[in-house]
Amino acid sequence: MPPQNQAAWIPAKKVIPFKVGDAPYTPPGPGQVVVKNGAVAINPFDWVLQFIGPALAGYIEYPFIFGTDVAGEVVEVGPNVERFHVGDRVFGSSTALAKEVNNPAEGGFQLYTVMRQHMLSPTPSHITDEQACVLGLSLGTAAYGLFHPDYLGLDMPQIPAPTNAMGKTGKPRTVIITGGASSVGSNAVQLAVSAGYQVLSTSSAKNFEYVKGLGATHVFDYRSKTLVRDILGVLEGHELVGAYTIGHGSVEACTAVMKKYDPKLTRKRIAVAGAIIPAEKLTSFVGKGTFLMGMVGGMIKSTGTRLITGVEAKFILVNGLVDPKSVVARIYMDFLPYALEQGQFVPAPPPQVVGKGLDKIQEALDLQRKGVSGKKLVVTI
Ligand SMILES: NC(=O)c1ccc[n+]([C@@H]2O[C@H](COP(=O)([O-])OP(=O)(O)OC[C@H]3O[C@@H](n4cnc5c(N)ncnc54)[C@H](OP(=O)(O)O)[C@@H]3O)[C@@H](O)[C@H]2O)c1
Repeated sequence: MPPQNQAAWIPAKKVIPFKVGDAPYTPPGPGQVVVKNGAVAINPFDWVLQFIGPALAGYIEYPFIFGTDVAGEVVEVGPNVERFHVGDRVFGSSTALAKEVNNPAEGGFQLYTVMRQHMLSPTPSHITDEQACVLGLSLGTAAYGLFHPDYLGLDMPQIPAPTNAMGKTGKPRTVIITGGASSVGSNAVQLAVSAGYQVLSTSSAKNFEYVKGLGATHVFDYRSKTLVRDILGVLEGHELVGAYTIGHGSVEACTAVMKKYDPKLTRKRIAVAGAIIPAEKLTSFVGKGTFLMGMVGGMIKSTGTRLITGVEAKFILVNGLVDPKSVVARIYMDFLPYALEQGQFVPAPPPQVVGKGLDKIQEALDLQRKGVSGKKLVVTI
């Protein structure tokens, strides 16, 4: 008898709240395992998709099961799986929403999720499911923007991290990563440090020590009027390799830095994760329009800006997660298992558990929408 599965379903487009109910238990296909979830984490993407699903991902066939970040135990292994066995503790990023997958069996907000082995890592014994599940989508977005050749194309992280790595100019290679206290930023800072880059970051003053603890050498207040000047001051004697932006105003600040830093800088690239959309902007039709116009407008503006300034800001669209050779898969397979075990990389930001059970997931989405600071909202299952 297969286990009895349950899920927090979105029954149709834009329905709030999720409805908890029975779900089929789906056995794993080739290269897949089934994970009994111990904890799942919440991303802004979850509630954005709940509000404006068809506008963002028109291909989704409802009813559907959202959720990308899971940690738990392998209970069944499909054909051609070499990396995992039944009973292994794992965490990773689910692929339900990849366009070529579009399959609720691979959604995170259920008791049993079908996961692809290349999007999983073993959970070291010193890390709990609540801690491990925070990585998921944020880690993948950070890795994609930093390392994919369509974005910053930086060198991949290594174990141990290269120290004193110099760029072509003989100066320390430095990347700006704004929003270091965010979930995506916490991962991006650590990945860049493990790849041998110095990191300049931004956050609220109360999170400076947290972001420095992740490896950033300098952290500035993103609300400061002297932000651009302050970053430029630190960049003297450094080789700037690009910027990764999180948070409203970050693209503009990084564009200003790149324009002034060095007119001969050949790579003026900004990988744009997102602007942190205020919740009220998505709660009405006007809000939905604002969001979409913001994205489309941002892309048009970015092309215009590039023509004028030579700085190219590109919104990160993560693709190809079904490919076991993708940048993100390589992080899960070649880097994380060893980096986590040795403490070179830590699950961050720390989890804040909202409650236990699938019926707590909507509450957690609603809380994430109101905003978090240096925390990842998690539901234990
Ligand atoms: N493109 C993609 O595929 C993709 C995937 C995932 C996420 N995203 C986007 O990436 C962004 C970050 O997501 P997340 O899950 O990491 O968000 P999050 O953890 O909820 O972000 C909250 C953090 O953002 C920081 N922040 C807010 N405004 C900022 C600003 N103007 N400058 C710098 N930091 C700022 C805050 O820092 P303080 O607390 O220090 O003030 C807070 O800690 C969102 O816009 C999200 O939609 C995009």
